[in-house]
Amino acid sequence: MNQATLRLDTHFVVAPIDRRIFSGFLEHLGRAVYQGVYDPGNELSDKNGFRHDVIAALKPLFMPLVRYPGGNFVSDYDWTDGIGPKANRPKRLDYAWQSIESNQFGTDEFMQWCKLVDTKPMMAVNLGTAGARQAAALLEYCNLPVGTAWADKRAANGHKDPYGVKVWCLGNEMDGPWQAGHVPADEYARRAYQAGYLMKQMDPTIQLVACGSSGRGMGTYLEYDRTAVDYCWDQIDFVSAHRYSENHRNDSAWFLAEGTEIDRIIEDYDGLLTYVRGKRRSKKHMHLSFDEWNVWYKAMGDKHQRGNWKEAAPLLEEVYNLEDALVAAQYLMAFIRRADVVKMACLAQIVNVIAPILTNEKGVLIQSIYHPIAQIAKLAHGQSLMTLVDSTKYKAGDRGEVAALDAAASYDPANGNLAVFLVNRDPTKALTASVRLADVTVDGVSATCLTGKDVKAANTWEHPNAVAPKPIEVEQPEPGTLRVTIPGPGMVSLSVKTTRR
Ligand code: AHR
Repeated sequence: MNQATLRLDTHFVVAPIDRRIFSGFLEHLGRAVYQGVYDPGNELSDKNGFRHDVIAALKPLFMPLVRYPGGNFVSDYDWTDGIGPKANRPKRLDYAWQSIESNQFGTDEFMQWCKLVDTKPMMAVNLGTAGARQAAALLEYCNLPVGTAWADKRAANGHKDPYGVKVWCLGNEMDGPWQAGHVPADEYARRAYQAGYLMKQMDPTIQLVACGSSGRGMGTYLEYDRTAVDYCWDQIDFVSAHRYSENHRNDSAWFLAEGTEIDRIIEDYDGLLTYVRGKRRSKKHMHLSFDEWNVWYKAMGDKHQRGNWKEAAPLLEEVYNLEDALVAAQYLMAFIRRADVVKMACLAQIVNVIAPILTNEKGVLIQSIYHPIAQIAKLAHGQSLMTLVDSTKYKAGDRGEVAALDAAASYDPANGNLAVFLVNRDPTKALTASVRLADVTVDGVSATCLTGKDVKAANTWEHPNAVAPKPIEVEQPEPGTLRVTIPGPGMVSLSVKTTRR
């Protein structure tokens, strides 16, 4: 049996948790929009074609923002194709996913759908094949009161009041040769600056995200980011990072230590942003928007990524298992631990495409990754606490000896609620974790455990609850100490009512 101790003091605060780290991402890709969120004619859809079973399943993820419409898709998207009477909207070639885009769902439909999900839009603009002018026009369409051409067009389309979109992404993965309109860093930086310059003049209340690297494996990793951040410093508020975790080598011990890599990426960006701030002798603080993250490696290759010029082909329909869920948990736990750096993050994606929810014509399937995300999003409020972990190590392949316990904690001073998230990454041994609370008494505690019959256990349409959290007992061997046993591998979430001593 592995052992670990986590020490917490509610005065040892990292930073307030920005709830926007629990955001999601919806792209025009595969069956994400069509047959995912929008399925007119299906009896599970409302009169506007929005699937209400999908909306109900998304609500417990408490997503403050949903990024839209891409992704790679946005870099050749003309947003004007997706507004106005549906019968007049053109069908277009989507070069990102070799599909046909019907444009039956566009900006106005997305805004309506966000309201139903209790989320807010995070819009991405096309800086690949379009530029500043088209980006500014979209902002005008979304945010200006009537009185100018694009705002009047919105009203003519039935939406008099502005949408007030607050967060905007200046393109997507412009560092990637696969991206429509991909350019070197200095050219992207100029495009982003020009778009940002128009956009912030029009609406100074918005926040802008510049593209950073699309992955740590990119040759231009951090250098692309540095160029964009430095050049656009006065215009932007965030730089983005993306990561998709993979287990191609099928080594669970190695894969389950993925949190070490996520920590490292955040550290890299912390260093980069601090460097540019110092170089510019600036008072401004720039933060990280980790606006695409997930596990994705099984549904890859032509079969899964090329739509053969069809509408809504089933693309990137990754099936998630227990080890994937524990990696998803480690993403959010890393974001909480570094709440000082990561202020926004988007689970990529939300329905059908690398998603916690799959649909068929009759309903939804909740995949394994859904559960840790829902639990963390529900419980983590207030401030991120420093975590002092003393844990048995385990062998994680070429990642070396890694602490078996990964931990994150939040404390809400408004009500004394403490949440603790514990992942046992060792796939072979259970772990006994003791949580020692330095400065609070425990008034009540409840806990759930997420595990499965093995690391590859997955929810299927036939067995939809193979991987789902179950309540467990928490021991209190002495005042101020909570003790749980976590299966190898598994995750325990603790919800603790406390009073400060
Ligand atoms: O989320 C799938 C794709 O992954 C996105 O379109 C792109 O930004 C990333 O490469």
